[in-house]
Amino acid sequence: MQRTDQVVEERLLKKERFSTRPPVNRAYFEKALEYVLVKIDQNLEIFTGKFPSSSSHNFVYRAIDNVEWTTGFWTGMLWLGYEYTGEEKYRQVAEKHVKSFKDRVKNKIAVNHHDMGFLYSLSSVSAYKLTGENQGKEAALEAAELLLSRYFEKAEIIQAWGDLADPEQRGRMIIDCLMNLPLLYWASEVTGDQTYQQIAYKHAKQSAKYIVRSDSSTYHTFYMDPETGKPLYGNTHQGFSDDSCWARGQAWGIYGFPLSYHYTGDEKFINLSKKLANYFLNRLPSDHVCYWDLIFTHGEEERDSSAAAIAACGLLEMSKRLPLTDDMKGYYENSALHIVYSLAEHYTTKDVPHANGVLKHAVYHKPRNTGVDECCIWGDYYYMEALVRLLKDWKMYW
Ligand code: GLY
Repeated sequence: MQRTDQVVEERLLKKERFSTRPPVNRAYFEKALEYVLVKIDQNLEIFTGKFPSSSSHNFVYRAIDNVEWTTGFWTGMLWLGYEYTGEEKYRQVAEKHVKSFKDRVKNKIAVNHHDMGFLYSLSSVSAYKLTGENQGKEAALEAAELLLSRYFEKAEIIQAWGDLADPEQRGRMIIDCLMNLPLLYWASEVTGDQTYQQIAYKHAKQSAKYIVRSDSSTYHTFYMDPETGKPLYGNTHQGFSDDSCWARGQAWGIYGFPLSYHYTGDEKFINLSKKLANYFLNRLPSDHVCYWDLIFTHGEEERDSSAAAIAACGLLEMSKRLPLTDDMKGYYENSALHIVYSLAEHYTTKDVPHANGVLKHAVYHKPRNTGVDECCIWGDYYYMEALVRLLKDWKMYW
């Protein structure tokens, strides 16, 4: 595979595209959010005692127990709905979920992985931040403790998946984990114990050093030797190939690094996020919604609308953190607006009446042919988060 030279990736090549905003106003995005709320209302009863499956089948999520890494996204949507509308119906269901998440962490149900942040920042930290409710705080602190237990001192990384002794997973970090770190930063803030923050910071630095390649593309996963702390090699799990750039992984980085910047003040992270964003934006097709792997820039391959929604949130977070003197600030903000506009125009299920998902054309796991060209619940969540970010001064659950 031929990759563009690093020097090029320092620049946003498609600058003209993002020099103006899309031709829509606030009312347009309010209407787009209305559609998400209508979908939530349709799903509220069925997904009170159960949760939507990670991806849909023919645009319909199944009802599952609270056992996947993805269940927090639905609860996060309920908290966003409550925050945006003030309607108690969303809070009532979300509070039931907080109890479910508390039981899950207490009984250690399907928690042998790093996705504690996806699960607990959105379901439980959110509950605590919005309502001051202690159950959310307790559940999230227990989850943070579990996340810490996956840390390797020498390698300075948190292992992503599976048992710590599993030879196939031992010492493996993945770019997605950047979104799990805010749970640790938050835990330090509420407990005063700096251990969580220090570990999160170390993991973020190792991700910056080893997961990001010299051309600002990213590996999905990278192996470290836990005994010696030495870097071993990068490969992919959900991308096209070991040396391609999985679009959702890049999006996790575009969003994850500014979050670590926010909590640590280390400017390396915000600068890196800009480079990752350039790589991503330079590879977008004309409608601004990425293919599932950034090795593809045109043709028949599937898009991943969920990666687009994540990247939009990351671009908004990153541009918000950039100083006014940064002449790229406006471009990144505009690029996010264009992505969200395109999603709202062409990627929602409004032309599929039987759908219970929101965003079509997401890809969960192409190599395994799981959730390909379907709705993915995190795509719905990040699309909603992006819309809320566009409509109010949103205080993050992350
Ligand atoms: N974090 C897993 C995924 O993005 O599919």
